[in-house]
Amino acid sequence: MHVILLLWCLFSLLLNPTMAQSATGISIGPARALDMMIQDYAYRAFILPRTGVPYDGTMPSNLTGIQISAMRLRTGSLRFRGIQSYKEFQIPKGIMEDSYVERLILVYQNLGNWSTKYYPLPGYTHLTPVLGLLAYDAANLSAMNLPELKIKATGNPILIHFGDTKPVPAGSSPKCVWINLNGWVNFSRPISGNTCSTVDQGHFSMVVESVSPAPGPASTSEGDGGASANPRPVIMGKSEGNKRKVWIIVGSVVGGIALLVLFASLILWAQKFNQRQKMQQMERAAEVGEALHLASIGNVKTPAAMVTRTRPVLETEYVT
Ligand SMILES: *[C@@H]1O[C@H](CO)[C@@H](O)[C@H](O)[C@H]1NC(C)=O
Ligand SMILES: *[C@@H]1O[C@H](CO)[C@@H](O)[C@H](O)[C@H]1NC(C)=O
Ligand SMILES: *[C@@H]1O[C@H](CO)[C@@H](O)[C@H](O)[C@H]1NC(C)=O
Ligand SMILES: *[C@@H]1O[C@H](CO)[C@@H](O)[C@H](O)[C@H]1NC(C)=O
Repeated sequence: MHVILLLWCLFSLLLNPTMAQSATGISIGPARALDMMIQDYAYRAFILPRTGVPYDGTMPSNLTGIQISAMRLRTGSLRFRGIQSYKEFQIPKGIMEDSYVERLILVYQNLGNWSTKYYPLPGYTHLTPVLGLLAYDAANLSAMNLPELKIKATGNPILIHFGDTKPVPAGSSPKCVWINLNGWVNFSRPISGNTCSTVDQGHFSMVVESVSPAPGPASTSEGDGGASANPRPVIMGKSEGNKRKVWIIVGSVVGGIALLVLFASLILWAQKFNQRQKMQQMERAAEVGEALHLASIGNVKTPAAMVTRTRPVLETEYVT
């Protein structure tokens, strides 16, 4: 019985999906938890909301510096009219979502001085705060832990007009960066000046490659050079994350099989050991029994009563 229980434990450990999941999105995890929290706080800003009007929310005091806003829209108006300006975002007509909802809410984030904490990009320096634009269903304004809707710009792209950027180091050119909800990072060229474009939701910023300190003890770089000298955890690309996931799955399966084989051989060995012991016991018992038998026979000098005696013969049998 306990063997079956053990095997069951082993299998449930191997097949536990949460174990596999914890392997991916480790580095995007805190940022996604923040997204969830911002969704909650942004929704709280709504009191009798009018559509198409941005409502600024307030983050808890331990996250001062993050600005959030929420705008409720009919999906039809988003599709056919777009929004001329929502903070830094210019949203054209033609935004489509893959599941039909009547109204949606666009949550805006400006991570301010928290940008590099939640979106560290090793080898790059943020020139602007990280901005986020995420779409949610507007059906329940007190809902929490909402999943994002999938939206896409099917016509013109969404434009992001970043305001002032940090000064660009001489000789380097700024890049637009888009980080999608899985932590997938994509760089592109600005379409002009401080304007970037996107067809998808997610988080956006402008970056430059960090001035990497030249190898050698004498060199030091000023300003943001510290960022590259002290690399931070990388936001994993999707393929990288998947590869790791595959390896972890392969590893745990192989490990599991090895464990199973080990257990099986242990069980077999235990059974054999048991059998051998039983056999030995029986042998010993038999030996002891024989000895007793002999002894008892030896003690009893007179032969024991006969089991069968000669049957009495009827006299009548002779009379014929
Ligand atoms: C900030 O405080 C909230 C509760 O008010 C908590 O849930 C959250 O984890 C805190 N976040 C940080 C980054 O400290
Ligand atoms: C950002 O600035 C606020 C004050 O404006 C401060 O309370 C907060 O700790 C800062 N955040 C980080 C990550 O330094
Ligand atoms: C809205 O969401 C809240 C929090 O998740 C939940 O308690 C409530 O039942 C929901 N209301 C509706 C109408 O689904
Ligand atoms: C990444 O950006 C480039 C340039 O903007 C674009 O062509 C490509 O489709 C993007 N990749 C994804 C997965 O969207």
